[in-house]
Amino acid sequence: MPVEYVPGLAGVPAAESAISFVDGEKGRLEYRGFPIAELAAHCTFEEVAHLLLFGELPGEAELEGFRGALAAGRALDPAVTAVAASLPRGGHPMSALMALTAALGMAHPARDVRNPEVQRETAVRLIAQMPVLTALFHHVRGGTEVPPPRDDLSQAENFLYMLSGKTPAPVAARVLDTALVLHADHTMNASTFTARVVGSTLSDGYSVVAAALGSLYGPLHGGANEAVLHMLDAMGDVDAVRSRVESMIERKEKIMGVGHRVYKVKDPRAYILQALAEELFGEVGRSPTYDLARTLEAVVTERLGAKGIYPNVDFYSGIVYDQLGIPRDLFTPVFAISRVAGWCAHWIEQLVDNRIFRPRQVYTGVHDRSVAPIETRS
Ligand code: COA
Repeated sequence: MPVEYVPGLAGVPAAESAISFVDGEKGRLEYRGFPIAELAAHCTFEEVAHLLLFGELPGEAELEGFRGALAAGRALDPAVTAVAASLPRGGHPMSALMALTAALGMAHPARDVRNPEVQRETAVRLIAQMPVLTALFHHVRGGTEVPPPRDDLSQAENFLYMLSGKTPAPVAARVLDTALVLHADHTMNASTFTARVVGSTLSDGYSVVAAALGSLYGPLHGGANEAVLHMLDAMGDVDAVRSRVESMIERKEKIMGVGHRVYKVKDPRAYILQALAEELFGEVGRSPTYDLARTLEAVVTERLGAKGIYPNVDFYSGIVYDQLGIPRDLFTPVFAISRVAGWCAHWIEQLVDNRIFRPRQVYTGVHDRSVAPIETRS
């Protein structure tokens, strides 16, 4: 039977899932049936992580228990701290996160992956630790002391606290918390697919997340938020944006932070992030990068809108993180701090009715060659 090859598996269903839903034509995103705008307006990241993992928003007592478990899961593990100290300091924090997540799994073996208790404990530890590991590596590479995690803070607050050593302003914590809500899941993207593929081998949750981190790192996926700011910097000023965009289009270069495999309209998360950026400007001052971004959006919409190319989630997130004082190479780790909740939810869902992933290839090579003696090979 002839097999149709679909590059990038575009549009090919790879799993059944009840976790999130995207309608790329209408710009609609839901987690477990709740519209993203409603979750962003009314729920914390902890509530959303609970929703993704367990299917329902928590009640007060459940939320308290979940927050407590996350706070308890934040403790710095001495063995993992020692690994962080031995990593090359100039390396990218995403590579460090992969290494530290693997080390965390070595410190907490959890091979009985079909056991719901093991799944829950692993997921909670991974979500709790992702910001801690990010802050840990950031301090190690800078030669500064990492502040111990605090159990009285939310995930967002504790991350900002561990980065700077200062309790964050309420507006900063709320803006980051909302950004975490927006990034927590997004159907079958590359890193989530990676998580499900690794999970399908019955590998442990730490390996699942370490692999997904590697997938997220790439500039066509989570690495785009960092790349957007480098691109905007290179454009210099607002007057140069149009000609720079024109020449990128002419050279068939990808403009970072725009375009999406699924959305053919502006990403619903980009609207919310843009509003957050504007809210932050009221507190910490307007960013000149924002004016560049607005101009770039206008030019891209005019030139590429007909192809369905509009800002995606990464377009405004970097500007928000910049305003929060988060270093640029931690933007993709911030994405991971949120998306780890979605990866864990997909890992657990994958195991409910698991079958190992084993797609086929379309062989394009030759057949029936014979081995020549080595001295005769050119
Ligand atoms: N800049 C310029 N043109 C773009 C583009 C971009 N960011 N994204 C897509 N296009 C164009 C392609 O050149 C292609 O044009 P053509 O049909 O004339 O050849 C068409 O749109 C389809 O592009 P394609 O690369 O096949 O889309 P894809 O679905 O494989 O890729 C992305 C989706 C997200 C990887 C792609 O849009 C991209 O690289 N964006 C920039 C990186 C980014 O922001 N990633 C984060 C995603 S959340």
